[in-house]
This record gives sequence, structure tokens and C-alpha cells, in this order.
Amino acid sequence: MRTSSFSVVSFFAILVLLQFPSASSHETFQQCLESHSLPSYPISSIIYTPTNSSYSNVLQAYIRNLRFNETTTPKPILIITALHVSHIQAAILCAKTYGLQMKIRSGGHDYEGVSYWSESPFFILDLFNLRSINISIEDESGWVQVGATLGEVYYRIAEKSNVYGFPAGVCPTVGVGGHFSGGGYGNMMRKYGLSVDNIVDAEIIDVNGRILNRKTMGEDLFWAITGGGGSSYGVVLSYKIKLVPVPVTVTVFRVERTLAQNATDLVYRWQQVADKLPEEIFIRLIMDVVNTTTGEKTIRAAFFTLFLGNSSQLLSLMGQGFPELGLTRADCREMSWVESTLYWTSFPTGTPVDALLSRTPQVLTHLKRKSDYLKQPINKEGLEFIWKKMIELERPVLTFNPYGGRMAQISPSAKPFPHRAGNICKIQYATNWNDSGVEAANYYVNLTRMLYGYMTPFVSKFPREAFLNYRDLDIGINHNGANSYIEGAVYGVKYFLGNYNRLVQTKTKVDPGNFFRNEQSIPTLPSWRK
Ligand SMILES: Cc1cc2nc3c(=O)[nH]c(=O)nc-3n(C[C@H](O)[C@H](O)[C@H](O)COP(=O)(O)OP(=O)(O)OC[C@H]3O[C@@H](n4cnc5c(N)ncnc54)[C@H](O)[C@@H]3O)c2cc1C
Ligand SMILES: *[C@@H]1O[C@H](CO)[C@@H](O)[C@H](O)[C@H]1NC(C)=O
Ligand SMILES: *[C@@H]1O[C@H](CO)[C@@H](O)[C@H](O)[C@H]1NC(C)=O
Ligand SMILES: *[C@@H]1O[C@H](CO)[C@@H](O)[C@H](O)[C@H]1NC(C)=O
Ligand SMILES: *[C@@H]1O[C@H](CO)[C@@H](O)[C@H](O)[C@H]1NC(C)=O
Ligand SMILES: *[C@@H]1O[C@H](CO)[C@@H](O)[C@H](O)[C@H]1NC(C)=O
Ligand SMILES: *[C@@H]1O[C@H](CO)[C@@H](O)[C@H](O)[C@H]1NC(C)=O
Ligand SMILES: *[C@@H]1O[C@H](CO)[C@@H](O)[C@H](O)[C@H]1NC(C)=O
Ligand SMILES: *[C@@H]1O[C@H](CO)[C@@H](O)[C@H](O)[C@H]1NC(C)=O
Repeated sequence: MRTSSFSVVSFFAILVLLQFPSASSHETFQQCLESHSLPSYPISSIIYTPTNSSYSNVLQAYIRNLRFNETTTPKPILIITALHVSHIQAAILCAKTYGLQMKIRSGGHDYEGVSYWSESPFFILDLFNLRSINISIEDESGWVQVGATLGEVYYRIAEKSNVYGFPAGVCPTVGVGGHFSGGGYGNMMRKYGLSVDNIVDAEIIDVNGRILNRKTMGEDLFWAITGGGGSSYGVVLSYKIKLVPVPVTVTVFRVERTLAQNATDLVYRWQQVADKLPEEIFIRLIMDVVNTTTGEKTIRAAFFTLFLGNSSQLLSLMGQGFPELGLTRADCREMSWVESTLYWTSFPTGTPVDALLSRTPQVLTHLKRKSDYLKQPINKEGLEFIWKKMIELERPVLTFNPYGGRMAQISPSAKPFPHRAGNICKIQYATNWNDSGVEAANYYVNLTRMLYGYMTPFVSKFPREAFLNYRDLDIGINHNGANSYIEGAVYGVKYFLGNYNRLVQTKTKVDPGNFFRNEQSIPTLPSWRK
């Protein structure tokens, strides 16, 4: 056995020498990192190898889907918790030399854990330490490093002003790096569009270790990393955001109706109005299965709302646009915009605003997510069919996020994110569970896929569109081998529609060797297409 393992090692060493003549055979990846670090920023003090007693804690600290916290989940050969750009430059250079895959992690909320596991030998470049935020009210803008969380961004804006905000996601622990590079949406989307529609500059480290800004990277690359995902192109360091005005007082409500309370009629009606109401109104619709007091299962539809204005205005607008919901003044709560970010993530009333700075997630479970786009209202017969199937499956939750407003005014090619006019809403399928193990995971993932299957007749087709930030490996995986271009088109067209080609061209230009890759990265053009 010794002989065979010896021959594997020497075979690998020969491969390394043949493929990477610059690597001297005795130098390990770790030594390479150390020899490329600056004396003032030694890299050795931020490298965690599996023998280090803190390795597991560092790895687990930003695992936000426990489905990928199993003993069977592939583990990194080491983790670099970068504190300085030189650490990132050394990581890129040495990973290229040693042919290792680099996984880039900012907040770790990737739904498929793509930022912290891989089937190939890999390490993690962990960016949680790079989290400074500089907000300038005078300039109505701010620079935000990728390791910051959305909660920190909201807090730092509100600290300086109560009449500015930023349109981004609901969960405060989500990381800027993955969220902004993948589009980023939240409850101000109908008024201001996505996060990327409000990003004006960025800093990235490319495959050659150069630090580039919008001007030096050029418009194609800037476009690509504002919605096309960062991890195909480089390591994003920071984004410059444009603040948006918010009123001193906003209004929220959450009204729930079961089937016995006309949920079917209300959901049907919601589909006619939710994308056409004034763009200051965002009504998220969440549908799940609950038990009635008599022990039967029913569907509960929750109408979860942010309105950029006061309750008198909201009641008047709802009376005109969606009177069937029967909204009353007692349902409405007025607060500041930053307080509404706490309300939306289910913090109890009165929670201090600095809860936004906590990096401990409020819920941490095993989970599966999938997405769809709705272009035509589902009729009542269709809704009744969906209720029947949901009640059979019991666990998966459906969430409809309304489009229209600003979302419908922005050109589908302005950013890689193409799902603009013509969409009533985005649909999210969500299943959470607490039991670990492959068997439980197979069971709950299967339930989620079944509901997605039942929805086929009602949602977008040819292609069945999907949202990059709701990463779903069911819709295609890239093995980054000879068929990379063909494999990439399968999920690439669902996420990006006609923008896929520009992403591939940009990728080919900035990373022709496909160093920056993962299970769903943008491939380079093969020679037969050039
Ligand atoms: C609880 C929860 C709530 C969510 N709510 C919303 C929501 O309201 N709206 C919404 O749009 N999305 C939402 N999402 C999805 C979320 O936006 C994406 O998962 C996002 O990619 C997470 O970013 P991250 O930095 O935390 O993730 P990570 O897992 O760190 O990264 C995600 C992807 O981006 C890459 N990446 C990360 N940082 C960089 C970088 N600096 N440079 C290059 N590539 C990078 C990673 O390699 C990976 O491929 C939610 C997710 C969760 C778990
Ligand atoms: C683990 O790694 C960290 C970072 O490199 C280092 O500071 C620490 O001393 C190591 N701990 C042990 C027990 O080796
Ligand atoms: C992740 O897995 C480790 C090892 O099994 C376990 O100790 C830890 O509690 C898990 N994390 C969570 C949040 O459950
Ligand atoms: C914010 O300002 C500080 C101090 O000038 C600087 O060190 C930091 O890099 C800045 N952060 C960003 C994201 O620009
Ligand atoms: C449900 O709708 C019907 C007819 O539209 C109406 O008569 C009834 O009062 C509604 N019920 C509830 C609980 O709103
Ligand atoms: C509903 O009741 C069933 C038992 O009849 C139980 O297993 C299930 O957990 C309950 N669901 C909820 C959401 O309370
Ligand atoms: C609500 O807002 C409107 C429009 O800004 C304003 O005219 C009205 O006075 C406000 N009402 C209350 C009660 O604050
Ligand atoms: C998981 O466990 C937590 C804590 O006990 C509980 O609050 C939550 O409802 C559970 N989630 C699911 C999906 O069962
Ligand atoms: C779910 O599991 C069932 C039973 O094993 C199987 O027949 C079905 O094909 C699976 N469905 C999906 C969508 O994976």
C-alpha cells in the first residue's frame, strides 16, 4: 500500500512540474502563500489548516445552510481569513500555481453552500474581516466592503440619517459580496429596483492580482459583477452604493387569511394588483400549510407589506387598489425605515436597532430553495390544485415577491439580471428542517422539487427562468471540463436569458484560463466558438 500511495504522490508531483514549471517541487501551497506575503501583513497568522484547533470553528462560523455542515460535506485543505489585499493576491497567485480551486466566501448565505465546499481539492478565501462601511450623506453614497452584512449597511446609513436607505435583502446577516454580485432584491424593489441598479462603482482583484475600479476594469466587467455573480470574474473587494431617499415614517402590516377566510379569492386578486399598485407599496405574499383549530390542514396566505409613507396614505391607496383585503388602521404600524428592517426580519417590537449588527443568524436550519417567475395570473382552479398539493406535501412554503414599478422600467440588458417587465412576481420555494443526515435531506429536498414540479404549468417556460441569488444546483451543474460551455448554457440562460452571451464574452476576456470557477460559474468561449 505504501508503494501505491508513493506512486500517486510522485505522479502528482510530476504533473505539477509539467503543468506549472514555475512551482519548485519542494514548495507547498502554504509555503508559496508565506513567501508571497508582505512582512507587515504576515499571511501565516491567518491560515487555518485542518490540524489547527480553530479550523472547524472558522469553517462553521459562516455556514448558513446546515445541509452542508455534515461530516460527508467536502472540507477545504485550508482557510485564509484575509485581512489585507496582499493576502488575496497571494491566494490567487499560489492557487494558480498549484492548480487548486479557490472558493470565495463573504457572508456564506449561498443556498447551495457553493462558497464553502467543492468536489475538487479546494481552499476557502474567507472575507468576513473585510467589512468596513463608509457612508457619506453629503455625497448620498457609500463604499461598502464585501464582508459587511446587509444589517451593518442599514445600521450605518441610519446612524447618519433617517431619510436615506438602500434597497437590498431582508435578512440582515446576508453578506454584501454574494448579495450585490448576484443582484440583490428587497422590499424597496418596486420603488428603486435591485441593489445593483443602485451601485455606481466597485473594486475587484483580477486573475493577475491587479486591483481595478470601474474605470480601470471597464464597463463590461463592471456590468458582469453587478448581477452576474462575482465568483466567475475575480475577488470583489468593495462596492460603491448610491443611497435612496426614504420617508421619516414608513408603514408595515402583516395580514393573514386562511382558506375559510377567502384566501383563494385574495391570492387571485393579489396577482391582478400587486405589480400595478403605486411603487411605494410592496406586498409580499407568503403561503404555507397550517392546522385549523379543529385539526384539519388549511392554507394560510400572509400579506406582508412595506409602504414608503404613513398609514393614512396607505389606507387610502389600499382602499382604491386592493379593497378586498379589508385592511384596517389597526393592522398598520408606523415606524422609521430602519425599524422596518427589524420588523421585516421578525425581531420583536422594541428590539434595539443595534440588533442589525449581530452576526448570529436568527434561524439556522437545513434548507432547500428554488425559484420561478410568474408571467400570467393563476386562475382559481389552478390555485385550488396548488393548495391540494401543498396540503399533501405539508412542508414547502411558497413566497411571491411582486415586480412592476421601477423593476418594469429598467431594460432587461441594463444588468445581467434579466427578469424585468412582464413579470408579476418571483416565486420562492422554501423548505427548512432541523434533522441532520442525508436521508432527511433527500426527503425534504424531494418535497421541494415535487411542489416545483406541480407548478410547471403556471410559471415561465422556454426557458423556465430562475434567480441567481436563489442558487439551485438542480437546474444545472458545470464540471468545468471539456463541456463547460455547453453545461454553462443550461443554467446560464435560466438565470440570465439573453445576457448570458455577454457574460461569457466578458469571462473569456478577463479570465481566459477559467481560474475563477464553481459549480455554476460562467464558462469561457471554447475555441470552436471564438
Ligand atoms: C436567510 C437568507 C435570506 C436571504 N434573503 C435574500 C433577499 O431578501 N434578497 C436576495 O436577493 N437574496 C436573499 N438571499 C440570498 C442571498 O442574497 C445570496 O445567497 C447571496 O449570494 C449571499 O451572499 P453572501 O455573501 O452571504 O454569500 P456567500 O455564500 O459568501 O457567497 C455567495 C456566492 O457569491 C460568491 N462571492 C461571495 N463574495 C464574493 C466576492 N467578494 N467576490 C466574488 N465572489 C463572491 C461566492 O463565491 C458564492 O458563489 C437570502 C439568503 C439567505 C440564506
Ligand atoms: C491556528 O491558526 C491560527 C491562524 O493561523 C493561529 O493564530 C493559531 O495559533 C493556530 N492554533 C493552533 C493551536 O495551532
Ligand atoms: C455543525 O456540525 C458540527 C460537527 O458535527 C457540530 O458540532 C455543530 O454544532 C454544527 N453546527 C450547527 C449550527 O448545528
Ligand atoms: C473607509 O475609510 C477608512 C479610513 O479612511 C479606510 O481605511 C477604509 O478602507 C474605507 N473603506 C472603504 C470600503 O472604502
Ligand atoms: C368571502 O367572500 C364572500 C363573497 O365574496 C363574502 O360574502 C364573505 O363575507 C367573505 N368572507 C370573509 C371571511 O371575508
Ligand atoms: C399539524 O398537526 C399535525 C398532526 O395532526 C402535526 O404533525 C403538525 O406538526 C402540525 N402542523 C403545524 C404547522 O402545527
Ligand atoms: C400622511 O402623509 C401625508 C402625505 O405626506 C400628509 O399630507 C399627512 O398629513 C400625513 N398624515 C399624518 C397623520 O401624518
Ligand atoms: C427547528 O428547531 C427550532 C428550535 O427548536 C424551532 O424553533 C423550529 O421551529 C424548528 N424548525 C423546523 C423547520 O422544524
Ligand atoms: C420524490 O420521491 C419519490 C419517491 O421516492 C419519487 O418517485 C419522485 O420521483 C421524487 N420526485 C422528485 C421531483 O424528485
